[in-house]
Amino acid sequence: MMAYKKDVQYPMDIVADRLKNIPSYLFMQMREKIRQTQAKGVDLISLAIGDPVEPTPDYIIEAMREAVLDPANHQYPTDEHKGMLVFRKAVARWYGRKYGVPLDPETEVLALNGLKEGIHHFIMATVNPGEIVLTTDPGYPAYKANIQLAGAEPFDVPIVEKNCFLPAFEDIPEKVCRKAKAFFLNYPNNPTGACADAAFYARLVAWAKKHQILLLNDNPYSEIVFPADRRQSLLQAPGAKDIAVEFNSLSKAYNMTGWRIGMAVGSDKIINAMSRFKENVTSGIFNAIQLASIKAMDDGDRAIENMLTIYQRRRDMVRRVFDEIGIMTKGGDGTFYLWIAVPSGSTSLEFATKLLDEASVLVTPGIAYGQYGEGYFRVSLTVPDNRLEQALERIRKAVKKG
Ligand SMILES: Cc1ncc(COP(=O)(O)O)c(C=O)c1O
Repeated sequence: MMAYKKDVQYPMDIVADRLKNIPSYLFMQMREKIRQTQAKGVDLISLAIGDPVEPTPDYIIEAMREAVLDPANHQYPTDEHKGMLVFRKAVARWYGRKYGVPLDPETEVLALNGLKEGIHHFIMATVNPGEIVLTTDPGYPAYKANIQLAGAEPFDVPIVEKNCFLPAFEDIPEKVCRKAKAFFLNYPNNPTGACADAAFYARLVAWAKKHQILLLNDNPYSEIVFPADRRQSLLQAPGAKDIAVEFNSLSKAYNMTGWRIGMAVGSDKIINAMSRFKENVTSGIFNAIQLASIKAMDDGDRAIENMLTIYQRRRDMVRRVFDEIGIMTKGGDGTFYLWIAVPSGSTSLEFATKLLDEASVLVTPGIAYGQYGEGYFRVSLTVPDNRLEQALERIRKAVKKG
């Protein structure tokens, strides 16, 4: 007879242990806060979430329309979990054209149902329970949650202003390096806006090879860099493909957050492991989305430049107002976020709460991204200019009032 649940409990404990210690996802909480505040009739302006408000460009919508009309695209996606070969070829073209990185579409490219899912698949495919995964603090909250879900151990590597928000990875203790399987990075960086350069990546790859640590650069903001010639891929570093992958996404560059399409590129061994994991959990991405995304990547440079003009204008607007009210906005060179020092005397949460209560403006307190985020708050530039102007005016009044 099969041994079965020795101590039956009433009521039944439905939630798995692996989920119990994971806090609810930060941006879900934010969306709930927005919903509740708006339900009270408050005219809330949210500068807290990075979701571009401008529509997906017309030429991509047109390609989607055509693809949807073709019944062949209504069946299971071609090449299933890997992504259509034509899509993978377009990704390889894009990386070749933009970064001079050659990629084999058969073995070095994998389609993702949005970049975020790739984070989970990477860890499940490469990291064993009990192994360490290095992440930066502050950092995108999905890394740590997925490391914990996989039974691995997150280790925070601080990124601080005096190091231009780049990790001092050479200072990570030897005993941590020995247990570490992978290192999650994200440049251009959310939330700090910092960018990494070629020299940093070259040092990082050499260090990772020495310690046998896999590298993952989460790079959805690759195109949102000021000036654009600072754009960089980790895969440009010599030997990177031996040990690294980069994730990218059409979400931010082409205003396609709702479409859920991204890609993992780099080391064929990591791509193969992820692919073997994915074949068991997903059947791929709607062909029509992949076909429209090919068009986006092949013909989208003008659309990206237009978006950069918009974000540059909004960066200037925010900086001007914060300068006037005496709040430092050094900011980084990348992403559509500004990482701003909290005025002295309050914590990031107190300051964000003050803006919410007194100005009906929602910003993200730095502490939400980790302990080294304390002392800062993040402003997203993905709201229309007129709403940003109103938000800034309200912030100015609230800060002046003290
Ligand atoms: C650092 C970072 N990685 C990943 C994502 C998610 O990207 P995607 O929409 O492609 O899943 C975001 C979205 O905000 C992000 O900021």
